[in-house]
Amino acid sequence: MSNTLDNLMAAFAGESQAYQKYSAFAVQADKEGYTQVAKLFRAAASAEKIHAGNHLRAANKILTTKENLQEAINGETYEFESMYPPMIEEAQKSGNKTAERSFSMANTVEKTHARLYKDALENLGNNIAADIYVCPVCGETIVGNIPEQCPICKASGKMFIKID
Ligand SMILES: [Fe+2]
Ligand SMILES: [Fe+2]
Repeated sequence: MSNTLDNLMAAFAGESQAYQKYSAFAVQADKEGYTQVAKLFRAAASAEKIHAGNHLRAANKILTTKENLQEAINGETYEFESMYPPMIEEAQKSGNKTAERSFSMANTVEKTHARLYKDALENLGNNIAADIYVCPVCGETIVGNIPEQCPICKASGKMFIKID
């Protein structure tokens, strides 16, 4: 059974990646004018998302919201404490500025996520209704009002995506 659990989590990771990859490929196909190919990529992406969700459910990794918030805090904290710092350092050393920026933006935003999740967990059941916005460039996540510009990457607040 533990082998099957490992397999489910490996398949979950693979399908999640395929979802992201095909979604990005769809945007590229649209840019190149291949609208039908873009549609096919989006269709396969949505199927891979379903597969990923099925695997995660089969692995019994979706618990109560209280437990899920704690899991989310743990994941985000691992990313900004242990995962990204050595990756940023390595990218700096090798002079890969694009990778360094990609890692650094994610690293900073994971701190925001951990904070917002902690706040949501502490106030579970009494969470105050508020708008939530995401920066389309760096992913910074803002609860409340859209800022003039992104505090992390300086993108215009006009570009922020409102989350339903
Ligand atoms: Fe995050
Ligand atoms: Fe940003």
